[in-house]
Amino acid sequence: MERKFNMVLVLLFLCLCLCVCSVTASVTYDHKAIIINGQRRILISGSIHYPRSTPQMWPDLIQKAKDGGVDVIETYVFWNGHEPSPGNYYFEDRFDLVKFVKVVQQAGLYVHLRIGPYVCAEWNFGGFPVWLKYVPGVAFRTDNEPFKAAMQKFTAKIVSIMKGERLFQSQGGPIILSQIENEYGPVEWEIGGPGKAYTKWAAQMAVGLDTGVPWIMCKQEDAPDPIIDTCNGYYCENFSPNKNYKPKMWTENWTGWYTDFGSAVPYRPAEDLAFSVARFVQNRGSYVNYYMYHGGTNFGRTTSGLFIATSYDYDAPIDEYGLINEPKWGHLRDLHKAIKQCESALVSVDPTVSWPGKNLEVHLYKTSFGACAAFLANYDTASWAKVAFGNGHYDLPPWSISILPDCKTEVFNTAKVSAPKFHRKMTPVNGAFNWQSYNEQPAASGGESSITINALLEQVKVTRDSSDYLWYMTDVNISPNEGFLKNGQSPVLTAMSAGHVLHVFVNGQLSGTAYGGLENPKLTFSNNVKLWVGNNKISLLSVAVGLSNVGLHYETWNVGVLGPVTLKGLNEGTRDLSKQKWSYKTGLKGESLNLHTTTGSSSVKWSQGSFLSKKQPLTWYKTTFSAPAGNDPLALDMSSMGKGEIWVNGKSVGRHWPGYIARGNCGSCNYAGTFTDKKCRTNCGQPTQKWYHIPRSWLNSGGNFLVVLEEWGGDPTGISLVKRT
Ligand code: GAL
Repeated sequence: MERKFNMVLVLLFLCLCLCVCSVTASVTYDHKAIIINGQRRILISGSIHYPRSTPQMWPDLIQKAKDGGVDVIETYVFWNGHEPSPGNYYFEDRFDLVKFVKVVQQAGLYVHLRIGPYVCAEWNFGGFPVWLKYVPGVAFRTDNEPFKAAMQKFTAKIVSIMKGERLFQSQGGPIILSQIENEYGPVEWEIGGPGKAYTKWAAQMAVGLDTGVPWIMCKQEDAPDPIIDTCNGYYCENFSPNKNYKPKMWTENWTGWYTDFGSAVPYRPAEDLAFSVARFVQNRGSYVNYYMYHGGTNFGRTTSGLFIATSYDYDAPIDEYGLINEPKWGHLRDLHKAIKQCESALVSVDPTVSWPGKNLEVHLYKTSFGACAAFLANYDTASWAKVAFGNGHYDLPPWSISILPDCKTEVFNTAKVSAPKFHRKMTPVNGAFNWQSYNEQPAASGGESSITINALLEQVKVTRDSSDYLWYMTDVNISPNEGFLKNGQSPVLTAMSAGHVLHVFVNGQLSGTAYGGLENPKLTFSNNVKLWVGNNKISLLSVAVGLSNVGLHYETWNVGVLGPVTLKGLNEGTRDLSKQKWSYKTGLKGESLNLHTTTGSSSVKWSQGSFLSKKQPLTWYKTTFSAPAGNDPLALDMSSMGKGEIWVNGKSVGRHWPGYIARGNCGSCNYAGTFTDKKCRTNCGQPTQKWYHIPRSWLNSGGNFLVVLEEWGGDPTGISLVKRT
């Protein structure tokens, strides 16, 4: 009887074990790899940032990543998207993080959740909410109590949401890794003591949240145990983690680079990208993440300064529109297959390395149980090599690695591309749009304004980033005795601004525009201006193009007209306007009227036909159109426009700025040789970005409402809807 009872107990226990084990899994690590459920894994990971596409696109993007041989989806968590004002959380639509993680789970892939909450990422303010800057006594990313309290609160919030949904692998979910902070090492190095204390605190805080899966810190040589320090860069084969019991991981292998308005568009050859991965893996690397695997779009006003473009295509394996980018996608898929064939050898032993000739190297993984994998490398940037290995000879193109998963057969070489080359096409789909226009009058002192003060104010202090636009308005009195009235030499107005764009209006007329660029956001406007006798209205429209996302204490960097503002060529010489009375107004009139919505747009009178306004600053355009049949991704060709913002059915597509022509060097680009972000560029002498992605899911089958705000002046009749194939 007792024996029977014991048997039942044992059976019950086994059942329980089975149940628990089948839903939960452990994630640990050793010097070789991340270990999931007791198994060391070579993991291929790809970054897809959920707010840079739409929930409707997610399943397809993730399926394409899976088909491309990706095991893990890596995403940052975007604090300012989730907590627009203190304590008010938003997790819907493109910011539905739980849904995104579940879509990855449904596809059978893992997640690396890079909580940050500092994310860099060319994302507005590096992911921090702008209100955080105005918390009394705050200093970002250092040993500062108000900052740490806010960071901890948000990080804990995200962890608790994930736990509540059972999304950590320790609970049976897909999240196998989390990241705290982002590339903090270089900052710590600059600020010393407080930086070290902050690193320690951040690590302890994260580990204390008890997720049951490992934490990593990227570019953080002193990452405290048990946190794994990881590498970011174009190559990481020479990286080693700070302890010999941690695996060698690469959190950002840049598949291309970001685009900034004013520069040529970067790309990275597939051969070099594959080469970098093979180099890392042959050299004991066991986790590689592509940053980005799908870059997507910086919708709305989510892009950071300085001057980051709306497209975040990144030359990633899946393009901005969600289409596969060949030959990169296919070439990497073939690489991943080859690496997976080597997995059991790679995770079991350390390699023996030999050098059969100049610029040649062989990594051999030979196990006691018969598995064997070899990597043959030719580092020469110009010549082919013949490598004798085992009983065979192998021909290697310059700057390439051959993979032999059985130590005999070359199944892949990083420079032999068999994936097809696709030519991307943008084809017009609709007839011409039927536009209506509304011209907004420049704001001027004496009208409605929020603040009046005898000083020039920093822009974000006033706008709190609720709009890109801030009006600086003042009056200038000109006496009838002014000499310039007779000699015809108009005075010169000079305005110095911390950035990013400035439109100067005098008595309601645009008198000029100035703007900075990625290298230097500051600008100086200096132009002759037409003034009349009596009172003149000077209105400076200062425009921000996203807030900085990186740099030491970037939260203290300024935007807007900080002066001096002077008027030169008067009888008195130069008049300093900086300390006279200025009034301020945040945002454009059209913004406060919500002209981007159908209801808002009915509040003003629009012109059309021969009265349609063209080449006029501060002009709003609206039209309706029907969605073209089919599923091909859509974009607007904005080449005929200058700068502004686009909305479809009330949703912001992003800032357009085709008026900014790409500078740079677009010479030929050889895949061989060390890659840098400046090496391979296209689009020189053309608009940096002329196509703007309109997600299919934003469109109705019937009428769609399209609104364009143009700051500079453009011709809307040149705008066309195109499909990408
Ligand atoms: C890295 C950073 C990423 C991203 C990248 C450039 O240093 O960690 O968030 O900004 O640079 O695209």
